[in-house]
Amino acid sequence: METADRSDAPVIVVLDGPAGTGKSTVSREIASRLGLSFLDTGAMYRAMTYWLLQNGVDVDDPEAVANASAKPVILSGTDASGPTITVDGQDVSGPIRGPEVTAAVSAVSAVAEVRTRLVELQRGSAHAAPRGIVAEGRDMGTVVFPAADLKVFLTASVDTRAARRAAQLGLQDPAEVAAIMADIERRDAADSGRATAPLRKADDAVEVDTSEMSPDEVIDHIIGLVRQRAAVPVSR
Ligand code: DC
Repeated sequence: METADRSDAPVIVVLDGPAGTGKSTVSREIASRLGLSFLDTGAMYRAMTYWLLQNGVDVDDPEAVANASAKPVILSGTDASGPTITVDGQDVSGPIRGPEVTAAVSAVSAVAEVRTRLVELQRGSAHAAPRGIVAEGRDMGTVVFPAADLKVFLTASVDTRAARRAAQLGLQDPAEVAAIMADIERRDAADSGRATAPLRKADDAVEVDTSEMSPDEVIDHIIGLVRQRAAVPVSR
């Protein structure tokens, strides 16, 4: 009986963890292989930050951020084969990855009103996903989807995360790698130390240290965990 119930219900798989653990790549591929939708919630915080910067809102003034946070229309397309993110109809998938947004996003995502608004959109996306969703971020398991079928907390050493980010950006200069590491450590501290929905492993999350694993190994491992807990179709 339990299996029948589970096979009917949309599957919710969540991945949380600090910057540079490979959450986005791994989550999207898992969603794709299982035929589920995919939600990159960091992109939503980045899209909010981009809009605030474009509209001259002081991102270091929490009250100004809170007052503006209801204004942008943020839409996430959750097709794992081509996720999209728009603000007021504009495709912002490129600019939200730029250094200005990356530098400001931790301050914006610490504002409670921003989180309330985006959490509502995130739950709406999961609700609208026909077969279920793989959602990644910082508070998926602790706040947004406390009843998820599977919660994963991805970790990796800060050196590994900095090296991966540097490789993605094609950087080799030790000074540049050190700067990336400093930025990762700054964001880790801000995301873990904030009062509202700090980055934290949910008590019932499975921790996966990816330092010594390839992306494919991480993906296969997590798909195995999903299959233990939820009725999902055979991989495509
Ligand atoms: O995953 P990312 O680097 O794109 O996330 C950008 C920032 O957004 C990150 O520094 C913290 C914030 N964030 C958050 O507070 N909660 C989430 N669920 C996802 C991201």
